[in-house]
Amino acid sequence: MERTFVMVKPDGVQRGLVGEIIGRFEKKGLRIVGMKCLVPSRALAESHYAVHKGKPFYEPVVEFITSGPVVAMCLEGPDGTIEMVRLMMGKTSPLEAAPGTIRGDFANTTQQNLIHGSDGPETAAVEIALWFRPDELL
Ligand code: GTP
Ligand code: MG
Repeated sequence: MERTFVMVKPDGVQRGLVGEIIGRFEKKGLRIVGMKCLVPSRALAESHYAVHKGKPFYEPVVEFITSGPVVAMCLEGPDGTIEMVRLMMGKTSPLEAAPGTIRGDFANTTQQNLIHGSDGPETAAVEIALWFRPDELL
């Protein structure tokens, strides 16, 4: 089994797409092993996006992610789940995200692209530990 960290970003919550997004993962057969709604603190957002520190979009993306409630999730499925979730999300840019993916179907800007998903096993482990205490996971 493999676990990944997924977050519906503030635009997804504001646009009422939480059910649509979570529903896709549920229908795909992934198990929700942790889920919570929160407004991320600046410290949490900075840690989450630490890898992008120094890039031109770092400050805007930290601002954006702390601008309202998000839904943070830990999803579990068979080996390959991390990659599968990334495929279901679609590419970062809405111009490249294929129809049928979450971003391809619903996002139209690169920053407000609705969803985050861990990009590899090491990142997933770090992000799950960053966003959830062990007792918050089933
Ligand atoms: P995440 O799952 O959110 O990490 O997206 P990603 O892995 O597809 O993209 P990446 O990690 O490269 O970038 C993190 C986030 O920063 C993206 O999801 C966007 O919200 C934002 N971002 C990335 N590149 C750009 C950019 O060129 N311009 C702007 N404004 N935002 C960007
Ligand atoms: Mg990323």
